[in-house]
Amino acid sequence: PIPVWLDCDPGHDVRGQNLTKTLPQTLTISHEQDVFAILLAAHHPSLNLLGITTVHGNSSLANTTANAGSVLEAIGRPDIPVYPGSKKPFSRVAVHAPDIHGHSGLDGTDLLPKASRPPVLDTNPILAMRNALLAQPPNRAWLVATGTLTNIGLLFATFPEVAGHIKGLSIMGGAVGEGFTDVPMSRLPGEEPRVGNTTPWAEFNIYCDPEASRSIFSNPILSPKTTLIALDLTHQVLATVPIQERVLKTSTSQASTASELRRMLYELLVFFANTYHSTFGMEGPPLHDPLAVAVILSNLNSDYEQAHPDKVLKFDDRNGERFAVQVVTDGQHGSTPEVTGQLGRTIAKPTEGPGETPRVPSAAVA
Ligand code: BDR
Ligand code: CA
Repeated sequence: PIPVWLDCDPGHDVRGQNLTKTLPQTLTISHEQDVFAILLAAHHPSLNLLGITTVHGNSSLANTTANAGSVLEAIGRPDIPVYPGSKKPFSRVAVHAPDIHGHSGLDGTDLLPKASRPPVLDTNPILAMRNALLAQPPNRAWLVATGTLTNIGLLFATFPEVAGHIKGLSIMGGAVGEGFTDVPMSRLPGEEPRVGNTTPWAEFNIYCDPEASRSIFSNPILSPKTTLIALDLTHQVLATVPIQERVLKTSTSQASTASELRRMLYELLVFFANTYHSTFGMEGPPLHDPLAVAVILSNLNSDYEQAHPDKVLKFDDRNGERFAVQVVTDGQHGSTPEVTGQLGRTIAKPTEGPGETPRVPSAAVA
């Protein structure tokens, strides 16, 4: 199996919440996407998940770390170590997705168990990532980032040798916009078309730490190994109702006997569906974070992929096109366009030298 390290920011404190019943439906887009990335990385037979670092982002570092442990417990992989990473961006105050209100004092199904294994506190998380990746043969391990890019930026700033050693870096983040894909981009009711999901210009992971993001896309050794899974792509891969139902039931498990885990995943998907529908009018929630894991699998030709070609998602690179990616760092975190400007915008321009700049797939097809 391909060795993988996952850096992520699994959502709000969802423990104890019955998501579909207790949460207001009109809140911000939901952010528990990382759960599906963890599930895929931890259980796919072609992958070997070496460890997880958590980062500030969707929620505080304390919450993302607790959630990562809970998810690993729920999916039967408490053996995978979790290292709490950065609490804040390179040079800004942390911004979190707005917390969900109104859940104190409500009883609900205890959907996520408490982690039986505590997070690892006696090793520096960046060093742990470096050691795990360098312990793999050259050009073999993948690093996947599904959260804010602070830990990843620190890794390559502190241990530049890791860039030359890994096989690839897959990032869920960014939004390119007009001219890149033919699908309409996200929009809020009554607003002009927009490219970002956090501001009209910016995607959440890049917006949270634009300086760290910029350091990654401007690293000449790393760039050729980087794949950017942007909103332009993730907004085409929707978990529509039939897909939500497949999560709940398989041919061998009926709804009435669906496991706690299946019900938890289903409830998350239904919650995403409601918020994406009311926020962006989409017919299903985009599966942002697991796509950053799935892109590794699309390049494999292992026994599992050969035996299950129908389960391999293919990514469209528009004839091998590569992109120079710039990140806008002017502006401040805030709630008005005057304050934020285009902070966190990713400007991706096609380049001529194939392989020298990041890969930015434009679509994924079954
Ligand atoms: C990204 O933001 C996060 O909240 C999601 O988990 C995903 O990584 C989408 O913009
Ligand atoms: Ca995420």
